[in-house]
Amino acid sequence: MKKVIVIHGPNLNLLGQRDHSHYGSLTLDEINAKILNYSKDNHVDCDIFQFNSELDIINQIQMSQTVDGIIINPAAYTHTSIAIRDAIEAISPPVVEVHISNVHAREEFRQRSITAPVCKGQILGFGWTGYLLALNYFIFDY
Ligand code: DQA
Repeated sequence: MKKVIVIHGPNLNLLGQRDHSHYGSLTLDEINAKILNYSKDNHVDCDIFQFNSELDIINQIQMSQTVDGIIINPAAYTHTSIAIRDAIEAISPPVVEVHISNVHAREEFRQRSITAPVCKGQILGFGWTGYLLALNYFIFDY
């Protein structure tokens, strides 16, 4: 069974109360339930974390070096964090970056991802389904 972890970054614990036009109306718990159901249906062992601090995200990445894959939504740190980028670059498991909203259709400061270049790929703009699309990368062997 493949082991995949999902890391949600800052303020994603507030989904449900954040702008529905960007993030939809589901809470993080509701999204996580969908991720866990999809993982179970596809025989993936999935653990999910949410951290508001950069430090906790980096520590989790460093502690996850033996997993088969990491799905991360670094949220606002996407646009600022060289430290998270360096952590992703230093580990061997493939990392898929997910954004719920289409950041390219938003403010200019959201249009640059510091972390994406060291990820395997990036999925954005498909709402919470982006997490399931990211899981597909680990479910299908190609
Ligand atoms: C986000 C996009 C970021 O720009 C923003 O800071 C977030 C969420 C997304 O999932 O669309 O908090 O990562």
